[in-house]
Amino acid sequence: MNPFVDDIVEILSTAAQLPATDVAELLAIPPDDSLGDYALPCFTLAKVLRKNPAQIAQDIADAAGPAIDGSTRLAAVQAAGPYVNVRLEKAAFIGWVLAAIGEQGESFGSQNQGAGRTVTIDFSSPNLARPFSIAHLRSTAIGHAIYRIHEFLGYRCVGINHYGDYGANFGQLLAAYQMWGDEQKVAADPVPELLALYVRFNDEVEKDPDLREESRSRLRRLADGDEEMVSLWRFFVDAGRKEAERIYGILGVHFDEYKGEGDFADDFDSVIGLFHEKGLAEESDGALIVRLKDEEGEEGAPCMLRTSNGTSTYHSRDIAALLYRKREHAFDKMVYVTDNRQALHFRQVFQTLSLAGIEWIDRCEHAPFGMMSFKGQALSTRKGRMVILEDVLDQAINLTREIIAEKNPDLKDADDVARQIGISAVVYADVSNRRTRDISFSLEEVLNFDGETGPYLQYTHARYCSILRRYGTAVDGEADPSRLGEPAEMRVARALGSFPGVLARAERENEPSYVATFLIDLATQANKLYNEVPVLIAEDPAVKAARIRLVDAVRGVLRTGMTLLGMSCPEEM
Ligand code: ARG
Repeated sequence: MNPFVDDIVEILSTAAQLPATDVAELLAIPPDDSLGDYALPCFTLAKVLRKNPAQIAQDIADAAGPAIDGSTRLAAVQAAGPYVNVRLEKAAFIGWVLAAIGEQGESFGSQNQGAGRTVTIDFSSPNLARPFSIAHLRSTAIGHAIYRIHEFLGYRCVGINHYGDYGANFGQLLAAYQMWGDEQKVAADPVPELLALYVRFNDEVEKDPDLREESRSRLRRLADGDEEMVSLWRFFVDAGRKEAERIYGILGVHFDEYKGEGDFADDFDSVIGLFHEKGLAEESDGALIVRLKDEEGEEGAPCMLRTSNGTSTYHSRDIAALLYRKREHAFDKMVYVTDNRQALHFRQVFQTLSLAGIEWIDRCEHAPFGMMSFKGQALSTRKGRMVILEDVLDQAINLTREIIAEKNPDLKDADDVARQIGISAVVYADVSNRRTRDISFSLEEVLNFDGETGPYLQYTHARYCSILRRYGTAVDGEADPSRLGEPAEMRVARALGSFPGVLARAERENEPSYVATFLIDLATQANKLYNEVPVLIAEDPAVKAARIRLVDAVRGVLRTGMTLLGMSCPEEM
């Protein structure tokens, strides 16, 4: 992916007589680049090789010397304490990076490794009885980024919205609507009215637990196909879907398939057939279950296929949906994006199908994420405990508008730019942390233009666009890269050259945060470059042309990376 890094790995692993993968994993960037461009720390090797790290480093450097001397890509190798430092041939390296970006253009970073393969991604999948809350933004933003990364790498992607249109929440909504709903008001503006009804039910049921029966009885009628219940339910689901699609429009998210849980509630007979056939289905207190083992190999929580009331379960609906997806889309990889509280659920679904002899189940992955909480200023919500996504977006946009009015009052299309910055800031906050980590969210922090934030990336991109605008003439794609080689230029080139590897890892681990970390590093190096070396005021025109070529490469890769994360890239801000 990066022939320079590949060479380092090959030469050092041969010299150390270690597997290339071990060396690749250890290879790092030295904090001080007067030492070298890449470094191999030898601490962990001490255990395997039974020597002290400094001695190991010296031995590897000595053994690698001749190969480095004969290399056109690597300039020097040297041990420094417990590290082996390697220096690149600067002109060759920067030349390679710029040529690769020049040739591949906007697809730089992709090795087309997904060609001929299909990935299905189940993400967002909100529960339609409730408003679109900030909790569902995580699945939406992370899932969307995973989708785009795969698409960029050449996969055929099928984004699936497995929305929740089934279960207890709908019973509550049916009951609340029939007891307190104002038909006309709801028809005129369903989303806030239904939210108010939903919240009211949940408040009142605490005082009067008998209300639960109001909800249960309606749910039974719905399951029995009672016309009144079915038509009301359909109305709620339609309103919820419209609202979700409106939100997706704001976020620029698209799905290839909308199929809710309800679509798989009836065909669970075929699911049950599969498990009966294999002798795996067992009656237990009237319910039908498959016995499973837990992680320690002990008897674990079983997978329930049918409740004692004879209805389908979240498990059996998911199993039916998965069998359908395999038939319909013939996926090579299937990714579920939900919070980590559903880890057990997916483990059970996968294990159940594995017991039934489904071999392709090992292509299915759960990509869980941590919870988001709030700190700092309270986010006002229209009602109670739920933080409504649109309220958060609106506040982010308003705050951005204030910042723009202060920093750049003459900006054209300021409203539009404020929207792009505000929304991207919230999206970036969702995708930038390691997926499984819990995150705490504060609008002030995510909008800090100087922090590791979305606006910081957008600002750097706009700054680079502005350099090119001020340059005024077309970028010379042939400008001589051997005129470059300043430390700041090498750092930028090194960051750019790592992009293909970062994307490959992000795909393998379903981890968009790798792209986010990469972008912050690239932006930081890019800002330093502009502060440390003259670009527009470079005296030598050949140096200036080569620097501009580098500036253009940075601008393009920043844009690609931000787009993959679902952010927008205004050219002025
Ligand atoms: N509707 C569920 C929720 O809101 C998420 C569904 C995830 N997808 C699935 N196939 N189970 O938590």
